[in-house]
Amino acid sequence: MKKKYCIVGLGSRGIGMFLIPLVRDYADVAEVTGLCDINWRRLEVAKQRAGIDVPTFTDFDEMLRSVECDAVIVATKDSTHHHFIIKALEAGKDAITEKPMTVDDEKCRAILAAEAKSSGRVRVTFNYRFAPYMTRVKELLKEGVIGRVLSVDFAWYLDTIHGADYYRRWHRRKENSGGLFVHKATHHFDLINWWLDQEPVRVYASGSRNFYGPTREERGERCLTCQYKETCEFYVDLSASEEGRSLYLEAESVDGYWRDGCVFSPEIDIEDTMGAIVNYSGGAQLNYSLHSFMPFEGWRVAFNGTKGRLEAGIAERYFIEERPRLSERAKVGRRVDPWRAAQGDIEVKSEEEIRIYPLFGGVKTIKVPHGGSGHGGGDVRLRDMLFRGGVPDPLNHLAGSRAGAMSILTGVAANRSMALGRPVMIEELLQDETAQVGA
Ligand SMILES: NC(=O)c1ccc[n+]([C@@H]2O[C@H](COP(=O)([O-])OP(=O)(O)OC[C@H]3O[C@@H](n4cnc5c(N)ncnc54)[C@H](O)[C@@H]3O)[C@@H](O)[C@H]2O)c1
Repeated sequence: MKKKYCIVGLGSRGIGMFLIPLVRDYADVAEVTGLCDINWRRLEVAKQRAGIDVPTFTDFDEMLRSVECDAVIVATKDSTHHHFIIKALEAGKDAITEKPMTVDDEKCRAILAAEAKSSGRVRVTFNYRFAPYMTRVKELLKEGVIGRVLSVDFAWYLDTIHGADYYRRWHRRKENSGGLFVHKATHHFDLINWWLDQEPVRVYASGSRNFYGPTREERGERCLTCQYKETCEFYVDLSASEEGRSLYLEAESVDGYWRDGCVFSPEIDIEDTMGAIVNYSGGAQLNYSLHSFMPFEGWRVAFNGTKGRLEAGIAERYFIEERPRLSERAKVGRRVDPWRAAQGDIEVKSEEEIRIYPLFGGVKTIKVPHGGSGHGGGDVRLRDMLFRGGVPDPLNHLAGSRAGAMSILTGVAANRSMALGRPVMIEELLQDETAQVGA
């Protein structure tokens, strides 16, 4: 029998990650029975792009009452996820939510409590776990190639295309996204928890906003009407892409949602430069950093263990030539390691590497073929496990509410640590009555 899904939140992710693939690739096992969004125009575009005719709703409760469904897929703005997860659970349905599961500890506790009372289960779609490269790192650590992990250095760099995008729309306010320590770092903290098979215990963080926000006088409210569009390196033209035009520009009269807000707006209250030290249940210590205004996009991690060191990382995009206009830059980004490029090596590799340095000498290089598009091939593999069922999961790729909580609470603790100027214990955020809950 086909499983029935409702989707709430039909923006870029709801349509691209869930609706279209469900209709196109999983019609033999899945049926979409309802779509909900506060913006009726986006609902129309969603149906059109997926080529289906299915009931649409601007009221979530009405959707739950009106159509049959086994699971609700949540792909709305982060700060609203808890609302739909909890309602789905109260109706006895499963909730499949985009990351981050939610944005603060209070909402997190409410989700855990609702799941404890429900026959439904929460799934958090941590797609990065499913990328073959990330999976290989997990296997190697599990095999004990570097012994017990004692410390981790992890740096994530967002470039002036992807990174800037978080300052254009709802993510720019902490109340909506939890800031990048929650919205973005939930991916990274989840990877660490999963790779190490440990949970965070204590977080000490520092962060600031130095690059975006009201740091320059030449700014407007949004790109569409900006007097500096000819000169600003961050200018975006929503009408230049089909998605930008139909899903956002032409839909904005319904709800006033601008997709091209100025990255130098005084309204921005999230950081762009962040660092945290996290201690884990098994004794490991993480040094983590995140920057969102880099000349390249990618990440590097190093695990230091009792038997050696494992280094991994991927160069996702680098602009070899200087191109000031964002539209031109977006076209020429290449998968080139910026550190190697600085030494003249601008070869685009067909595979990624993991390096293992045994404690007393030597080095072993492990090659991993590219996993494909969509978060290193993670998106498609995640969907298979979610929607096909019966796919073996020996490495626990599928994440539940406990993993969702542990990743966001690291970021929530980091936010609190920045505000209070002291380390914050994860236990403080879980509170006693819900500390043991979560699958
Ligand atoms: N896993 C990943 O790699 C990944 C990548 C991109 C986005 N995401 C996540 O997916 C979610 C959506 O991101 P997006 O970029 O598509 O955002 P978006 O703003 O483009 O789309 C969100 C949609 O939710 C709708 N919405 C907002 N509040 C609502 C409400 N109260 N009721 C009903 N609908 C509501 C909006 O109208 C919009 O159509 C976010 O949680 C984001 O973190 C995850």
